[in-house]
Amino acid sequence: MFSVRIRVALGVITALVIALLSSTAALADGPWPNDPQGPQAKAVADLYWIMFVAAVVVLAIVDGGIIYAGIKFRERPGHVAKQFHGNNFLELTWTIVPTIMVVSFSVLSWQKLDFINNTRGSDVGMVIQAQGQQWQWTFSYPHEDRFKLLDGTYLQTSEELHITVGTKVRVELSAKDVIHSFWVPSIGGKKDAVPGRATELWIQADKPGTYKGQCLEFCGDGHADMLITLVAHPVSDYDAWAVAAVKDANRAIDPLTKVGRDTFLSLACVGCHTVKGTTAGGKIGPELTHVASQKSIAGGAVSPVNEDNLTRWVKNPPAVKPGTKMPNYNLSDQQVHDIVQWLLTLK
Ligand code: CUA
Repeated sequence: MFSVRIRVALGVITALVIALLSSTAALADGPWPNDPQGPQAKAVADLYWIMFVAAVVVLAIVDGGIIYAGIKFRERPGHVAKQFHGNNFLELTWTIVPTIMVVSFSVLSWQKLDFINNTRGSDVGMVIQAQGQQWQWTFSYPHEDRFKLLDGTYLQTSEELHITVGTKVRVELSAKDVIHSFWVPSIGGKKDAVPGRATELWIQADKPGTYKGQCLEFCGDGHADMLITLVAHPVSDYDAWAVAAVKDANRAIDPLTKVGRDTFLSLACVGCHTVKGTTAGGKIGPELTHVASQKSIAGGAVSPVNEDNLTRWVKNPPAVKPGTKMPNYNLSDQQVHDIVQWLLTLK
């Protein structure tokens, strides 16, 4: 009963709707504002859904009306297309309703923005600094004594930002070279880090977990790899993380680390092991460039890779793993200690 043209039009509309729905479904999986995990992201998602539903209703009414009128009053054999001019009720309706909608959206957006931009409230429980540079984020924890290092500076982490669950965290942004943008979609907030200018936002995670984020301002070749991993710890775990992170950082700046490195490089170790960035280039034993990040070494005989296990291993390898090719070099306790302290910095 429909003409070819109408059938083609209906087909195109159906295809567009299917494409829209399937792309929305695909996005539902990733880091996306529609998966809010904090109050700020929820504020954005609420606004998004209110506007989305309103837009769908408007779309249905307007396009439904156009399609209905186009079909019902169209010209066809035996019928002349009807012409309509002026209808006060309709014209008032489609002036007043959109005006009310736009004003409501403005007020709602204003309220949400006020909430989102409130980085200086007394409810802020933690302050962290984030610096963007090509192509990495560095996070510093300069406002708590527990993050103070041996040399008087404060802990820094790269790529990973650690916070506690349920705490409102102010993130103070800066940029070293070009403009970057901080964004962790499911936690909310997105703010540019601009060279020479201080900007800030706040974040809060409602559940423990790891949330993915990304630099969102094109900043050069490495832009796509400028990732953020936000780790939200339960309060009870955060202390343990902080103590371990500070211990790690202290180890790396400790003069002992240099002694350990020199000891390692002066002994037979270098004949078998490679540590990139040093003169150790041996190929017989396993590479140790990232030994401190490995889950285990010596084929699983030393696991996990921590200070105690490494100490036992370096002190007397055959005692830990009979038959190993690494002999007991009868190192002094001091030598073993120094070497292990250095190995633990190889991440
Ligand atoms: Cu940094 Cu894009």
